[in-house]
Amino acid sequence: MARRPMMAANWKMNKLVREAEEYMARLLPRVEDSAEEVDVGVFAPFTCLKEVARMAETSRVIAGAQNFYPEDSGAYTGEVSAPMLKDVGAEAVIVGHSERRELFCETDGLVARKTARAIDSGLLPVVCVGETKEERDAGEMWDKVSGQVREVLERLGDISGGELVFAYEPIWAIGTGDVASPEDAQDAIGRIRELIAGIKGREAADAVRILYGGSIKPDNIEDIMAQPDVDGGLVGGASLEVDSFVALVEAAR
Ligand code: G3P
Repeated sequence: MARRPMMAANWKMNKLVREAEEYMARLLPRVEDSAEEVDVGVFAPFTCLKEVARMAETSRVIAGAQNFYPEDSGAYTGEVSAPMLKDVGAEAVIVGHSERRELFCETDGLVARKTARAIDSGLLPVVCVGETKEERDAGEMWDKVSGQVREVLERLGDISGGELVFAYEPIWAIGTGDVASPEDAQDAIGRIRELIAGIKGREAADAVRILYGGSIKPDNIEDIMAQPDVDGGLVGGASLEVDSFVALVEAAR
């Protein structure tokens, strides 16, 4: 089944408003053609999300957030809700990034709640899963990743597959330059797809997009994108500069 590829920039905790505006002003004209074939996402910090979404509004580029709390309002100091993200123009949101699971103790259950709430709120969740080096070395990659995926799927009702995206991000590859081999990326993502088929059906499994993330660069993206089950990338460092992110978008066409 042909799935529309996605190349997503996760800026993490980077870019002041002016820098975000300068980036988008350079990016938008350079991905106008590619965005006909590739979903281009820019996942910005809350503080510049409104500007990113405003500038993306007249393009096919998707503005996204990097997190939210799965309640619509209330006594959740420091948090933002899905309606607030929609209010500033976000169309998508990353949930369960390993940095949030590790630094902010986000559990599989909370990630599942966030995924369900994002879908119910009309946001496209990009759900991150992945193992540590210790887990991989101990042969526990699949135990870890399948548990993360299963918890999300069991929280959802019937799905078509288009309402969410998974991103397999081996933690040992994030920010390290130690990119997963295309074969390892395919192995994990192919197994995730088969797990989805077993729980939500073949049609949904064939429709859901599954990205790879972890030290993606223009010089390694082609072999990763050539893998049959890889539908794109979730990119940190290499997305912070327009030139390299444009190269990654073009490689996803
Ligand atoms: O969410 C994407 C991110 O975790 C990957 O980071 O810098 O290894 O591309 P990086």
